[in-house]
Amino acid sequence: MHQKDHFTDEVVKLTDVTFAYNGTPVLENINLSVQVGEFLALIGPNGAAKSTLMKLMVGLLKPKAGEVRLFGQDIKRFCDWNRIGYVSQQAAHVNTAFPATVEEVVSSGFYSGFGKLFDSKKRQEAVEHAMKLTGISELSRRLVGELSGGQRQKVFVAKALVKNPEALFLDEPTTGIDAASQQEFYNLLMDLNRNEGITVVIITHDIGAAFGKAKKIGCVRDKGVYIHENTNEVTQEHIAEVLGYKLS
Ligand SMILES: Nc1ncnc2c1ncn2[C@@H]1O[C@H](COP(=O)(O)OP(=O)(O)O)[C@@H](O)[C@H]1O
Ligand SMILES: [Mg+2]
Repeated sequence: MHQKDHFTDEVVKLTDVTFAYNGTPVLENINLSVQVGEFLALIGPNGAAKSTLMKLMVGLLKPKAGEVRLFGQDIKRFCDWNRIGYVSQQAAHVNTAFPATVEEVVSSGFYSGFGKLFDSKKRQEAVEHAMKLTGISELSRRLVGELSGGQRQKVFVAKALVKNPEALFLDEPTTGIDAASQQEFYNLLMDLNRNEGITVVIITHDIGAAFGKAKKIGCVRDKGVYIHENTNEVTQEHIAEVLGYKLS
């Protein structure tokens, strides 16, 4: 049994976190925690600092004040990056002319960030497992540039899954994808959450889908995050009104 210094049920915890770009605060005194096994959807208007919040959670930005902990450990000392997977808002906007196959893109997940190295046989197994989990095994030899938006998003999720993370952070992964593929994508995330026990934190504008799948909703606005612990607690209409969204 692997002995952990810090045993915790918390994937990420932010305490009094403040962040500013060039002296302009965009997040102030954020307190938020995500437990192991949770499915949290973060919603909010454009420019509300959703992406910034997620970058703070995955260590791509450092808070100006306050503390971020990953798996119970201060993020400043955290180095077990294999435990989390991150799909950035830009992930799917790949150069479609770049001649990389699906399998190559998924494999490249091994080279992003730090973490322990795997031997080539284990790597291949992990690539195949990640493609199987995301339902893209059939596409392995195809060029990513030739795929549909929905298929391409699954490739980037597979890439993020290749190091077998315990938590996935996804920044607007379904933008520009048709409704049917969006639904399929949320079903995939649900399966990963329920069957593989992967904690999911997703930034999304699909309120309808978020309500169906996420157990907890966080509204990001006015430099804060307002958590609704239970999606039964609020109505879609309420959130749409607060955020100025139109429900489709
Ligand atoms: N690298 C940056 N430098 C300066 N300002 C930024 C930078 N990234 C984002 N911002 C600003 O911070 C605010 C929050 O941005 P972002 O986190 O991307 O919001 P969201 O993801 O909710 O649309 C916006 O006003 C944006 O213009
Ligand atoms: Mg964003």
